Amino acid sequence: MKFIVGVSGGIAIYKVVDLVRRFKKRGDEVRVVMTDSATKFVTPELFREISLEPVMTTVFNNEETAAHIKWAQWCDAMIIAPATANVIGKLAAGIADDALTTVAIAMTKPLIIAPAMNKDMFNSAAVTANLSILKQRGVNIIKPSSGELACGVEGVGRLPEPVEIVEQVDKILNADKRLSGYKILVTAGGTREAIDPVRYIGNRSSGKMGYAIAKIAAEYGAEVILVTSSSLEVPPNVKCINVESAEQMRQAVLSEYETVSVVIMAAAVADYRVAEPSKQKIKKSEDTLTLELVKNPDILLELGQRKQKQILIGFAAETQTVEANAIKKLKKKNLDMIVANDVTSEGAGFGVDTNIVTLITSNGATPYPKMSKTEVAEVILNELLSFLLDTPHG
Ligand code: C5P
Repeated sequence: MKFIVGVSGGIAIYKVVDLVRRFKKRGDEVRVVMTDSATKFVTPELFREISLEPVMTTVFNNEETAAHIKWAQWCDAMIIAPATANVIGKLAAGIADDALTTVAIAMTKPLIIAPAMNKDMFNSAAVTANLSILKQRGVNIIKPSSGELACGVEGVGRLPEPVEIVEQVDKILNADKRLSGYKILVTAGGTREAIDPVRYIGNRSSGKMGYAIAKIAAEYGAEVILVTSSSLEVPPNVKCINVESAEQMRQAVLSEYETVSVVIMAAAVADYRVAEPSKQKIKKSEDTLTLELVKNPDILLELGQRKQKQILIGFAAETQTVEANAIKKLKKKNLDMIVANDVTSEGAGFGVDTNIVTLITSNGATPYPKMSKTEVAEVILNELLSFLLDTPHG
């Protein structure tokens, strides 16, 4: 592998000397780019000797022209270690005022950063917000470890040991990309059907299952569109479309339907909506209030009817005769798979972080024990892969 190691000016720089040495020792090619303050801790010559490659400290006066672009294109990944609060802030803001940040902004390959700083700096609102911006953009963050910090206090902020950084880098770069080339639409959350401008009819769905699927699908390399009515943190590399009502969800899903290979409807779509939502807030004048409800469109049924090459996966949140109902639904809606769960059993269904599911396809039903929603997402996507391998969908 070819790595660019971006070194910013933190005391943990001494570990990065060893990190570069480790990469070199196992045959990786490494080029180092340093910030000005990094050169106050160690000289570029040290890294030049270890990497046996030129070291960049400025965008000017390099042997090559536009070296920052050429370096970014040359490597397979860039690792910034230690990443100081300053560099993290600059990356989040898109500032490129030195060699390191200019190479980083020119990167089209994976960018991995290893923050290291005092615990109060690491926990500051600014660093937290900047890291979350970077995460959203798909930057991989190697979490700092806890222990004694250079400033003498205990806490989180230590640069992990070089051997751990190497391990993490390998893990990130070898992450399974088996869904790469597929575009997957995932829906999540419970829809909200307006009663009046302030009230709505909703349900207990949190959106956690759909978000977990979107996250894992993106990690597997798929292009993911998440149509959601809940407002959890959007996973990295996921395009999010926010909706409220079933009708809005239908519009959003249909507008993307032609372009996707897979739709996973994890959303709890309301079956009914208020026939005529009031334009004004309803006053509490009467003792009783009657709302007339009309049936919502069944999005998945419609997708099943319009299906061309897409794989369709639905959910069946039931409270009784789960499996029998799911099999009926699989046929009626022309689906490839149903994920059935009894939302009344403990550790399954709405709001919680775990789920107990049975995957139902035309080949039969496979029950799974209680798992985290992330594990359930993996199981669903692995099953999806067998469909995709059977029929090549683009
Ligand atoms: O028929 P039932 O509503 O139980 O089906 C549940 C499945 O269908 C879920 O995947 C859900 O997202 C989807 N659904 C839908 N449109 C509706 C109701 C449910 O797409 N109006």
